[in-house]
Amino acid sequence: MSDIIVVKDTKKITAVQPTENALFGMDVEKLLDTLPEEPIFDLVVTSPPYNIGKEYEKKMDLSRYIEWQERIIRKIYPRLKDTGSICWQVGNYVSNGAIIPLDFEFAPIFKDLNMQLRNRIIWHFGHGLHTKKRFSGRYEVVLWYTKTNKYTFNLDPVRIPSKYPGKRYFKGPHKGELSGNPLGKNPEDVWEIPNVKSNHIEKTAHPCQFPVGLIERLVLSMTNEGELVFDPFAGVSSAGVAAIIHGRRFWGCELVDEYIDISQKRLQDSLDGTVKYRPVDQPIYDAKQSNLSKAPEEWK
Ligand SMILES: C[S@@+](CC[C@H](N)C(=O)[O-])C[C@H]1O[C@@H](n2cnc3c(N)ncnc32)[C@H](O)[C@@H]1O
Repeated sequence: MSDIIVVKDTKKITAVQPTENALFGMDVEKLLDTLPEEPIFDLVVTSPPYNIGKEYEKKMDLSRYIEWQERIIRKIYPRLKDTGSICWQVGNYVSNGAIIPLDFEFAPIFKDLNMQLRNRIIWHFGHGLHTKKRFSGRYEVVLWYTKTNKYTFNLDPVRIPSKYPGKRYFKGPHKGELSGNPLGKNPEDVWEIPNVKSNHIEKTAHPCQFPVGLIERLVLSMTNEGELVFDPFAGVSSAGVAAIIHGRRFWGCELVDEYIDISQKRLQDSLDGTVKYRPVDQPIYDAKQSNLSKAPEEWK
């Protein structure tokens, strides 16, 4: 018996409690239209379809795409707690070889809702397509918005090792004392986290998953234990893995049955402590260790 509730019938939506882990196999607008307008979400984190023609999306005109996304964000807003955050992770829309950064397009939606942008987190990764007529794209953006100024932000659980932990004050009343925090430093707003490609430990059948580590940092800093994380475009629920391994609850919504099945297994494995993932603090692989990093004889 799975501890993860799977709901595909809209009539059963309102029976699900915010204290339960649930997957909704349906169109997210149907889910949101059925949910009471009560603030239950502590963190909404997602990477929506980018409208770039992936196998699970139908490419639409950019203005129609943004209107659709705006409708969804407006339906999420009243269901977000006052202490809550929305993290909308986006890349570029590409039209005729020209890029349109989607964060530009989303910003007016959140501004109109009077939400506060706290960070534009740059997620930098090492692998992807090599483009010929512009520089290859190697980052995406997490737009972190809060609903009010009373938002949850816990820095200590996400601190990273300081560069100079032995540094001391060299003058003033604390002269000679250590100046850093023993828990480490603020991880800043540029994050180097490998993307999920073919031999990544988290790889599933989904063509573009979040790395769990990216969401771990958001979950740990923006929610407390037992709180509810929601991903409206859950895919294979990488956000849910990050939420559950850190003692939060998760609700995910996803249209494709195959992804719901994979999600259910990953979330159950997360509850059981057997899920495979790459923790955010795992050091980045040093490519120089590979023989492939040496220039071939033919090039010498
Ligand atoms: C970029 S992917 C998300 C991947 C996810 N972050 C993960 O780590 O697996 C977007 C997902 O949204 C789903 N989707 C697209 N339109 C949807 C809709 N109207 N309602 C619910 N899910 C939808 C797609 O099937 C796809 O899996």
